[in-house]
Amino acid sequence: MAIRNIRINEDPILRKQSKKVEDFGRRTQILIDDMFDTMYDADGVGLAAVQVGVLKQIVVIDTGEEGFEPLVLVNPEIIAEEGEQHTPEGCLSVPGRSAVCRRPNKVTVRAQNRDGEEFEVTGEGLLAKAFSHEIDHLHGILYTDKVEEWLER
Ligand code: NI
Repeated sequence: MAIRNIRINEDPILRKQSKKVEDFGRRTQILIDDMFDTMYDADGVGLAAVQVGVLKQIVVIDTGEEGFEPLVLVNPEIIAEEGEQHTPEGCLSVPGRSAVCRRPNKVTVRAQNRDGEEFEVTGEGLLAKAFSHEIDHLHGILYTDKVEEWLER
């Protein structure tokens, strides 16, 4: 378990496409554990592997909501979206800023868990926003590309 260095701002890796994970062995398990440590240390709700400099399609999410089980999404794909929300968001890779973006209000994701087993999960509100934001990271997209209104801080 270790806290990894978060890539920020103009770091070019943040614009790269992450690759599918095929190996669910020890290196991947350590990476996932480190991603949780790094996310919690930075007080984040979600983190994509690219943010710690690894171009693999892995996301961890913990909304911190009552009863929420921390989620690992490997090779996630959005298979359904519904509605929209316009709420503030930030990103550990864009420190000190936040903005309102348009996101779907309900998102269904198909992914593999940390053992490689396939599952589907649906989130609304904050979780839907996290799915959309974090899966964007895997394709080199940042919320700064989708800003409707920057917020003062
Ligand atoms: Ni982010």
